Amino acid sequence: MNLKEGIIARKSIRGFKPDPVSKETIENVLRLASRAVSSMNGQPWEFVVLTGDVMKKIAEENMKDLDDNAAPDIKDPALVDEYKRRSVGIAKQLFGAMEIERHDLEKRNWWIRRGFRFFDAPAVILICRDERCDEKGAAFDIGAVTQNICLAALEYGLGTCTELQAVNYQRGLRKYLNVPESKHFVIGVAIGYPDDSFPANSVVSERADLEELTSWYGFE
Ligand SMILES: Cc1cc2nc3c(=O)[nH]c(=O)nc-3n(C[C@H](O)[C@H](O)[C@H](O)COP(=O)(O)O)c2cc1C
Repeated sequence: MNLKEGIIARKSIRGFKPDPVSKETIENVLRLASRAVSSMNGQPWEFVVLTGDVMKKIAEENMKDLDDNAAPDIKDPALVDEYKRRSVGIAKQLFGAMEIERHDLEKRNWWIRRGFRFFDAPAVILICRDERCDEKGAAFDIGAVTQNICLAALEYGLGTCTELQAVNYQRGLRKYLNVPESKHFVIGVAIGYPDDSFPANSVVSERADLEELTSWYGFE
């Protein structure tokens, strides 16, 4: 797969085969991904990789938090106007593929809960920022390394879903992981071998036309 093919092939995968992913494979992905750009080469990212029992326990804690209607530690950003319309667009595509009707609260709930269980992936990579790193600057660099993880994973036949849901609730993470409070969980990437029969995996998200987003100066 060349670079162009990889960039086009990457999409969020939300249904995984149960097959485990070896530590060595994830190490390879992370080593490759760490070639990402970062401001002044600061590399303000740290990886916490989960699989097996500890991952299940954290997923269970997330389920409890949802059952208790607990306030998330990190809230989803509020989107407006065209940004909101785009997010409604992908939600419609996903619900369409999963045959979830707008008013079917039970199924919508089931769908949302899957995200908080890391989509039942065999592993999840959590990306942390040390409190000594500037939040906004680090967010940019962590975005770059996260995209690289998603691309590098393809090289090993793996699928990924970048997910804020992985870190929205942090009680379980803090309970089961020995990660000091000075390390902030920023984002998670569910990772595993894609289940090609899972309907949502066939969704190809839309993109705004380049004309809407680009201005050119000095060209013919
Ligand atoms: C910062 C960030 C947070 C995201 N959080 C979630 C999430 O919590 N749940 C989810 O299903 N997808 C999540 N996504 C995936 C986006 O929905 C997805 O990238 C977008 O719809 C475009 O689809 P594509 O990745 O298939 O191209 C997130 C992506 C990013 C970059």
